[in-house]
Amino acid sequence: MSKYDLATVQSVHHWTDTLFSFTCSRAPGLRFNNGEFTMVGLDVEGKPLTRAYSIVSPNYEEHLEFFSIKVQDGPLTSRLQHLKVGDTILIGRKPTGTLVTDNLLPGKTLWLLSTGTGLAPFMSIIRDPDIYERFERVILTHTCRHKGELAYMAYIRHDLPGHEYLGEVIREKLVYYPTLTREEFENEGRITDLIASGKLFDDLGQTPFSPEADRVMLCGSTAMLRDTTELLKQAGLVEGRNSSPGHYVIERAFVD
Ligand code: A2P
Repeated sequence: MSKYDLATVQSVHHWTDTLFSFTCSRAPGLRFNNGEFTMVGLDVEGKPLTRAYSIVSPNYEEHLEFFSIKVQDGPLTSRLQHLKVGDTILIGRKPTGTLVTDNLLPGKTLWLLSTGTGLAPFMSIIRDPDIYERFERVILTHTCRHKGELAYMAYIRHDLPGHEYLGEVIREKLVYYPTLTREEFENEGRITDLIASGKLFDDLGQTPFSPEADRVMLCGSTAMLRDTTELLKQAGLVEGRNSSPGHYVIERAFVD
C-alpha cells in the first residue's frame, strides 16, 4: 500500500516572494496530534519527491494546511510554489513529531518559540483546546527578518479571538509576541537576545524561565534551536522526548 494519500489543493496564499501557504483535502483516515509533521510532496516522473512539513491546521479541521518557503533551486519547493487549486499532491499517511504536549511535564506557562516557517506547528497547537486546559498562559513568539514574513499575524490577532469555540479561552490565555530583526517594529531582536536580556519577560510580565513553571516548544532554524536550547539549559530546563516528558521539546523548521 502506498505511503501517501493523494490530496487536492484547495487554496494557495503567497505571503511574500519567499513564503507561501496552501490547503488541501484530507483523507478521512488521516489522524495526527496537533504539532506533528508529515511528508508532503509531488509525484515527479513516477517517483514521490517529498519533504517533512509541519501541519498548520488543527486536527479537527476537514482540510490540511501547510506553510512553506520557496527556494528557487530547491528540488521540491521550486515546484511546490507553483501549486494551483485543483492540483494533486502527496500527503504522508504517518504524521509524527516531538512538539506534542504529552512530551511535556505539567506546568503553568507554555512558550511556543518560533522563527520563520517554524511558526507552522504552533498554528495547529494554538487551536488545540487541550493546551488551554493544561496551561494557564500560552505565549507564542514569532521572529522574522521583515514584516511581510510575519505570516498569520492578522489571523492570530483579529480572527482567533473571535473563534467560534475557542475565542473566549484564547482571549483569556493566548499571548502573541511577534518580533523583527531587520526592520523597525513594535518588538525587535532575536528571541535569544530577548531571553538573555530579560526583555521578553519584562514585556510580558513573566518571570524568567524556571523548571517549576515554564514549558517550552521550539521550532526554527538549526542555529536558532541550538542557541535557544543553550539558554533553556542554563535556566535548568531538561529536554523531553517521546519516552520521557521534560520541560522543553524541539523540532527543526523543515527546509529543502
Ligand atoms: P537575524 O535577522 O538576526 O539573522 P532565517 O530567515 O535566517 O531563518 O531567520 C529567521 C529569523 O531567525 C530572523 O529574524 C533571524 O534573525 C533569526 N535567527 C537566525 N539565527 C538565529 C539564532 N541563532 N538564534 C535566534 N534567532 C535567529
